Amino acid sequence: MTKRAAIPKQGQDKEELYRTLEQYKANDTDWHAGKVFSLVYHAGDEHLAFLKRAHNLFFSENGLNPMAFKSLKRMEAEVVQMTASMLHGGPETVGTMTSGGTESILLAVKTARDRARKLKPWIKEPEVVVPTTVHVAFDKAAHYFDVKLRYAKVTPDLVADVDDMRKLVGPNTILIVGSAPQYPHGMIDPIADIGALAEEKGIPFHVDACVGGFILPWIEKLGYRIPTFDFRVPGVTSISADVHKYGYAAKGASTILYRDMSFLKYQFFVSTDWSGGIYASPSMPGTRSGGAIAAAWAALMAMGEDGYLDHARRAMNAARALREGIATIPELEVLGEPPATIVTYGSRDKKVGIYVVGDRLEAMGWTVDRQQKPECIHCTITSNHEPVIADYVEALREAVAFVKAHPEERGKGNAAMYGMMAKVPFRGMVKHSVEKVMEQMYGPNALADLEAATSGESSGPLLKALSKYGGVALGVLDRWDELRARFGRGGRG
Ligand SMILES: Cc1ncc(COP(=O)(O)O)c(C=O)c1O
Repeated sequence: MTKRAAIPKQGQDKEELYRTLEQYKANDTDWHAGKVFSLVYHAGDEHLAFLKRAHNLFFSENGLNPMAFKSLKRMEAEVVQMTASMLHGGPETVGTMTSGGTESILLAVKTARDRARKLKPWIKEPEVVVPTTVHVAFDKAAHYFDVKLRYAKVTPDLVADVDDMRKLVGPNTILIVGSAPQYPHGMIDPIADIGALAEEKGIPFHVDACVGGFILPWIEKLGYRIPTFDFRVPGVTSISADVHKYGYAAKGASTILYRDMSFLKYQFFVSTDWSGGIYASPSMPGTRSGGAIAAAWAALMAMGEDGYLDHARRAMNAARALREGIATIPELEVLGEPPATIVTYGSRDKKVGIYVVGDRLEAMGWTVDRQQKPECIHCTITSNHEPVIADYVEALREAVAFVKAHPEERGKGNAAMYGMMAKVPFRGMVKHSVEKVMEQMYGPNALADLEAATSGESSGPLLKALSKYGGVALGVLDRWDELRARFGRGGRG
């Protein structure tokens, strides 16, 4: 076992420590230069410096106790109200801030479950109807809160198939979900139709606008055709929208909104018997970062409508440039017709494995988000990408040419590993393999294993065995895929 980290006996020199931090940071991906998609939403250095000041001012304050920090309660209420107005909520629309999209989604599901427990106590096995493209945080919520997800198919256009949703809605359904847009391909589900279904059945309907909430309203104002997705749709009862995405706030800031208090009240947690006193909490954490709340408030106020419109316009230009650039590379194609700023592309040429293209892009310094079913690469485009899209398209062109010239690359490195991960039919074994990687990454030897685990070199027993056989294994899995396609095995679950 390697030496483990321990708190130093004596405190260390702060300047030296700061330099160490800078060194650590220097090895991370360069998001500032627009080489990262979806993890960082950057609205320029001046905005960033301002956010840091706002965050710093409330660095130590704690949103846990609104009596002690009335400032935070006030800012949270204003963030919620500003978001509700943007999403066309009515005077009764209420909500809370949360630490991020996942927490907002966990709360939407927990709230629906607790509401059903009260209003429909006969439901013993609650179910949530979602499209297969819904964010994985719903899967997490189902896992945490013991509800079952019923997955509806998506149409060939990659939007929720409402007829299939209708078939899945039943006596145990406590919530229906649609996305605006969904993360994997950026498509907006038919929210109006799902809303009508939800209304007809008398079931709450959550719109996951975590990624779209702070950009779709501005895109619509710019004159693009965006299907109505917010509280204007009568059946919509709750919406999640992340300020730390296209709201360009600091990390740790999302909102969960409900049509009125008759829903939100099921989100609260109150304990009256704890020896520490009466305890009431609106969301999942105890301590809540004052900095994140203040920075979210400051971002909304500093941007204003004009700022958001400007960033939305630039992000849309960049997304269009990317779609047009991809269209000039015959081996590639954009999936669906994404109406906003997420662009996902795959290969239409059997000789061009998209994961090998991904490896090549990575070698050129771009961060790559690989997806599966079908295999593709995801890009969430922001205004910060506007200046680099031309370079990205050229890198893509180069990568495709390289892949065609080097067919052997398919059976190597990350391409082989992700290719197998996506194709191995025994999903339980893939899960087991990934769990092993997690155990390693968070295990007692985490420091020694960090490089292997985070570089994808370490992939657990199944994939290790498979990668020994590289291209051969992929060939077998390709054949398996073809057979499955021929004998038609439908969606998830
Ligand atoms: C549609 C959608 N929902 C939920 C989330 C989860 O958000 P977070 O990563 O802030 O938890 C994301 C993240 O990209 C998303 O795109």
